[in-house]
Amino acid sequence: MRVGVLTGGGDCPGLNAVIRAIVRKGVQEYGYEFTGFRDGWRGPLDGDATPLDIPAVRGILPRGGTILGSSRTDPFAAPDGVRRIRENLAKHELDGLIVIGGADTLRTAARLVDEYGVPCVGVPKTIDNDLSATDWTFGFDTAVGIATEAIDRLHTTAESHRRVLVVEVMGRHTGWVALHSGLAGGANVILVPEQRFDLDQVCAWVTSRFKSTYAPIVVVAEGARPRDGAAVSGVGEWLGTEIERRTGKEARTTVLGHVQRGGTPSAFDRWLATRFGLHAIDAVRDGDHGKMVALRGTDIVRVPISEATARLKTVDPALYAEVGVFFG
Ligand code: F6P
Repeated sequence: MRVGVLTGGGDCPGLNAVIRAIVRKGVQEYGYEFTGFRDGWRGPLDGDATPLDIPAVRGILPRGGTILGSSRTDPFAAPDGVRRIRENLAKHELDGLIVIGGADTLRTAARLVDEYGVPCVGVPKTIDNDLSATDWTFGFDTAVGIATEAIDRLHTTAESHRRVLVVEVMGRHTGWVALHSGLAGGANVILVPEQRFDLDQVCAWVTSRFKSTYAPIVVVAEGARPRDGAAVSGVGEWLGTEIERRTGKEARTTVLGHVQRGGTPSAFDRWLATRFGLHAIDAVRDGDHGKMVALRGTDIVRVPISEATARLKTVDPALYAEVGVFFG
């Protein structure tokens, strides 16, 4: 059997661990041959491919990023996209295609398999942890670790200068990184896209924090929005300016950005990514096309990709309320 592999969407720590597990098990246990496509869906669209064998995946387990490259290319937006993908899969005589991606990349896989019979198997990845069918996506644990370390460091400089420190973390649609890193880092305010925030309340929490010897840390997800306003581009900077203006306390903003996605994966992400890879190649062997591997508890299960990408996993209001005891 011959199998294609691609990584699409924003990169995240653990992608290489998945590729390694797929190739190691596929070659060693099943005698399969592999073709890697470069830069997400652009690879099968343009026929940009490279052979993947065991020497090609040696040493990549702890490496961040993806040896295959990634992109947000949408084949349905490209002229003749489906035909070109089919032709390139046929040219490489592929019996299956493993698609490692987030919601957008996997939605494309779902359409290709459900509407056009392209034999895709999905592996969920995203630092946002917002895919509803799986308890965790790899990359998230690493991102939370990086953000938590940053918050720990910002506490001491905030206290030294008696300043407000606003920390903007990733999360356009969901606030999982903000919630977990904010809780782990002892933030005084956590703002997520799922709950519009009240700026007066944020300022009240900030002011109350100054009554102690500590200084406030405000963790904000990039997609968080004020209650009475439109989406703010650069919400962290905007918040810092508004808090300073309204409270009279000096404020600084740190935008963590892509540092949250870079570098070596945590041990948990290597473990999860490796298990996803091992189960994805089994799904290909079983001809279980249209399925995505997912973590439920400690088990890896298979779910329809279309179901897994139908809705985002958002922060539940009750969970957000639970952490509110630490605000202010
Ligand atoms: O989906 C992963 C993610 O890192 C989001 O958290 C973030 O909003 C987005 O990608 C950034 O995308 P890009 O790398 O294209 O700027």
